[in-house]
Amino acid sequence: MTKIILDVLNGVRPKRPPVWLMRQAGRYLPEYRQVRATAKNFIDFCLSPEKAAAVTLQPIDRFGFDAAILFADILLIPMTLGRKVWFEPGEGPRLDTLTADDIRTLEIGSVEDILGPVGETVSIVSGRLPGTTTLIGFAGSPWTVATYMIEGGGSKDRWNARRMYWQHPEAMARLLDLIADSTVRYLVMQARAGAEVLKLFDSWAEGMPPQMFNDVVIRPTKRIIDGLRAAGIDQPVIGFPKGAGISYRRYAEQTGVTALALDHGLDADWAVNNLPEGMPLQGQLDPAVLGAGGQALDAETDRIISAFESRPHIFNLGHGITPDVPIEHVQQLVERIRG
Ligand code: CP3
Repeated sequence: MTKIILDVLNGVRPKRPPVWLMRQAGRYLPEYRQVRATAKNFIDFCLSPEKAAAVTLQPIDRFGFDAAILFADILLIPMTLGRKVWFEPGEGPRLDTLTADDIRTLEIGSVEDILGPVGETVSIVSGRLPGTTTLIGFAGSPWTVATYMIEGGGSKDRWNARRMYWQHPEAMARLLDLIADSTVRYLVMQARAGAEVLKLFDSWAEGMPPQMFNDVVIRPTKRIIDGLRAAGIDQPVIGFPKGAGISYRRYAEQTGVTALALDHGLDADWAVNNLPEGMPLQGQLDPAVLGAGGQALDAETDRIISAFESRPHIFNLGHGITPDVPIEHVQQLVERIRG
């Protein structure tokens, strides 16, 4: 049986694009909320292989998406560097804040033990997926993970992290290298457990000068991909430098990614004409359109499918699905794509 997403990542263009959605396992699904309610807290949930595997499979059972994405979170990696991470109900992630001084003494712990349960989740899902569905593993990219570590959670403008890059460049470089090296071990584990594609989420790749983009986005991403290849991992890697604008091009040319996930702010025609020839592209429906539904959803779905007609293309959102999205809108989207 062939896996259509693997075909597309190998440069094949099927009649209709395959589809999956970022955050497809999540609170918009009642069956997700049900399993979620049995977990002590969000981190525990991510580290409970049977529960995490169950919610990874839910959107596949319901919608027949072409890929399942491992259920976990990008903020597990700070735990491998000895940092505390927790989720405040109704608010979001919290971490103990990190200063330049703290960074000098950070060390990578036993990634394979601390995040071992995630490897188990991958094995369980891998054994239960339909033969045509691709299993995607993932991690956060170093810059995005670093911003949460330095800020102690989400922040409006990542001010402390951005200032640290200019004020303590050596500390920032060390932090990004540590995150990258820990992430390589984490992704090697996922790949060996059965992840067939790996995705790197750089949610905060927007709004920085070009040299800084090279230093905090391109270089650490390349370090991860080089590390994976050196470890004999040859799975395709999808890079998602969200908000990078025209810097998507340098990212595509210099990091070693196989494919690019595009956010909804990037001009599709620019992307088709300026990103490396033949490179598979994933995206880029605005999640707000999925929230709206109706004719707007059909029209935008059609526009995106035709915009990427000349490319190997995987249909997806430009960012994660939001908890308020009605399930019928997701159904409508999938039916429209499949014609
Ligand atoms: O279905 C999937 O896409 C796989 C699982 C997944 C989650 N988070 C589950 C999750 C993935 C790939 C992520 C990535 C992630 N996590 C990112 C990068 C992508 C992006 O959205 O920009 C980031 C920045 C995070 C950090 C994070 N995790 C935040 C800021 C939050 C709180 C915000 C919110 O939506 O509540 C989370 C929690 C989280 N991660 C939830 C899920 C399903 C919701 C929490 C819950 O169920 O209680």
